[in-house]
Amino acid sequence: MNRIDIILSEALDKLKNIDTEEKVELIKVEYLGKKGKITELLKTLSSLSVEEKKTTGAKINEAKNLLNKNLEDKKKEIKNKLLEEKFKNEKIDISPAFSFTFPKGHYHIITQTIEEMSNIFISLGFNVAKGNEIETDWYNFEALNIPKDHPARDTQDTFYLENSDKLLRTQTSAGQIHIMEEQKPPIKVIIPGRVFRNEATDASHSAIFHQIEGLVVGENITFAELKGTLTLFIHRLFGNHIDLRFRPSHFQFTEPSAEVDIKCVLCGGKGCRVCKGSGWLEVLGCGMVHPNVFRAVKYDPEKYTGYAFGLGVERFAMLKYGIDDMRVLYENDIRVLKQF
Ligand code: DAH
Repeated sequence: MNRIDIILSEALDKLKNIDTEEKVELIKVEYLGKKGKITELLKTLSSLSVEEKKTTGAKINEAKNLLNKNLEDKKKEIKNKLLEEKFKNEKIDISPAFSFTFPKGHYHIITQTIEEMSNIFISLGFNVAKGNEIETDWYNFEALNIPKDHPARDTQDTFYLENSDKLLRTQTSAGQIHIMEEQKPPIKVIIPGRVFRNEATDASHSAIFHQIEGLVVGENITFAELKGTLTLFIHRLFGNHIDLRFRPSHFQFTEPSAEVDIKCVLCGGKGCRVCKGSGWLEVLGCGMVHPNVFRAVKYDPEKYTGYAFGLGVERFAMLKYGIDDMRVLYENDIRVLKQF
């Protein structure tokens, strides 16, 4: 009985440091082959008594099975190890193929500015409407109290569409008329959009530019509300420290009319190239809706009052981001766009 244990532990010991399948096979032959050490033990059984045959035989078989199982396990272990090594050696590092990062785009400065300006008005309860870029004379001029002989009608300024009574709107104010034709007061809306004028391009002019129109109509709407709203807007956009002034002006569709100047954000009012030495920058036009405009949309001017304003988006973008040439906004030089 002892010999069985000794032979088994000897075999298991040898197996421990084996690293190839061939060597495992050799051990199998050495112990379980025809002339193997455990096989030889079985042959000695014949000299034992029936009782001893039973117990010793069982014991030898147990040892045989145990060794067999260990041999198989060892083989599996070696196989797996080989496979793992193979995986390790044959691994291809594909990460460089994915290390190229796509340049991420973002909204253009003009779009960003429109969004920023609109959000301030939205926070003050304004709705946002969309106007039409192609308009008729009625919406762009006539209904806005701009008579036929007004200089703004000069073909130099307006792009007319060939063989049609249509034109490219010169001002988002045209949208005011559509809104009032479609809705009853109270109205509180902004209309951002593109406008077109037949102008040569230079540092402060472009044939296509952007405006945000504002219109508020109701009962007892006052100039004080106009002042309050636009002051708040300027302060939210540029900061509370910015000085501004309402200066009397003239627009056909408002009475009284005003323009708003802000203290030059570049020189702080001392006078510089951008504010042309005056210390002030004109940023918007506004006023109380003219009774003739109400009449054009069949609103009762005795019942309703309202205010309107028009902001030039490019002007605000340039002041906000310190850009001194409008053309920079349209050339789409990626080196410039990336900065905003
Ligand atoms: N439409 C004017 C322009 O393009 C700007 C403007 C001035 C709009 C006064 C208004 C306003 O609504 O009340 O120059």
